[in-house]
Amino acid sequence: QRTTLTAGAIGKDGYRHYMEKELHEHPLVIGQTLQRMIDPATRRVVLPELPFDLATVPRAVMTACGSAFYAAMVGRYWLEEVARLPVDIDVASEMRYRNPPLTPGSLGLLISQSGETADTLAALRALREKSVHILSVLNVEHSSMARESDVVLGTVAGPEISVASTKAFTAQLTVLACLAIATARSRGVLDPLKEEELVSALLDLPSRTAEIFKQGEAIRNMAKIVAEARDVLYLGRGSLFPIAMEGALKLKEISYIHAEAYAAGEMKHGPISLIDRSVPIVATLPSTALFDKTLSNLQEAKARGGRLLIFTDTEGAERVSKIAEQSVVLPHVHDFVSPILQAIPVQMLAYEVAVLKGTDVDQPRNLAKSVTVE
Ligand code: G6P
Repeated sequence: QRTTLTAGAIGKDGYRHYMEKELHEHPLVIGQTLQRMIDPATRRVVLPELPFDLATVPRAVMTACGSAFYAAMVGRYWLEEVARLPVDIDVASEMRYRNPPLTPGSLGLLISQSGETADTLAALRALREKSVHILSVLNVEHSSMARESDVVLGTVAGPEISVASTKAFTAQLTVLACLAIATARSRGVLDPLKEEELVSALLDLPSRTAEIFKQGEAIRNMAKIVAEARDVLYLGRGSLFPIAMEGALKLKEISYIHAEAYAAGEMKHGPISLIDRSVPIVATLPSTALFDKTLSNLQEAKARGGRLLIFTDTEGAERVSKIAEQSVVLPHVHDFVSPILQAIPVQMLAYEVAVLKGTDVDQPRNLAKSVTVE
């Protein structure tokens, strides 16, 4: 399957835009990707034969562009937290010129839907020159990056037509979560019970994410507020900070509204001065370990007149309802997989805002599906 398929070759199946159709494919795509990565009999993550040993790589260097970069940011969180592997990360357009000092035998982790993005391909080549092993997470498995990688982990997202990435993003996250589990096991830092717990959380995702679509109306109501704004602030913490970044990017890309994402705890060092009723704050706040910390960051914003639009889950809903002007209540899942689930509603919000604004959702101005020039 190649993303060079023309839009006309694949139908919209009754959806208004390819983006809407692709948003609805999240549960299926996550399920397909898990089928590729997890052996159903043993419920263990199975990687293809690797030409290097994950147990001994001294560190990982992650790089990508756009949404794929935010997937890498979540991946760093998992690789450090679960697999105790030190990770360096940068956008590919910086990484390719950074010349970082690297121990030969380190792991280069490249993430790309298309496998053709010029900066990511150049970063891959720059890392290879330093005798780094190249593992790429790609949706198009017959691509330039695939040809130059030591090993490819495929995201089974199928062709993505909409310029703004949606389902490929959650598939990238799914692969990276599995990679973190496999790396942790080979490094001897994951006991079998914990592995079973994390794998179960992943296997729950297709059904849990399918429930998100019941919240369509709540998301459309939120979109009415966002569509009126000139600037929007997105907040999240920990592995949900990159999800706030994904939300802000998606909004910019397809609705042309300026959006900025901040780590919620960093808000007091600058963006708090922006807050008033005209700058809505979109926060990703399920009940994970950082719930209380993030909630208190949001209370500070509210005290300064901020309008809070919060994505939470069934366990956080009651406390969130006390401060939010609007909230969307999503299924509760394990902390580990929370960024995968929470990515979907922030993408849906951007979509609904773009529909309200009447922009060209699938082909936003000035953007390309795959940027093959520097
Ligand atoms: C473009 C697309 C984004 C995508 C980025 C990276 O900017 O509009 O949606 O995230 O390229 O693309 P890749 O194919 O490398 O994932």
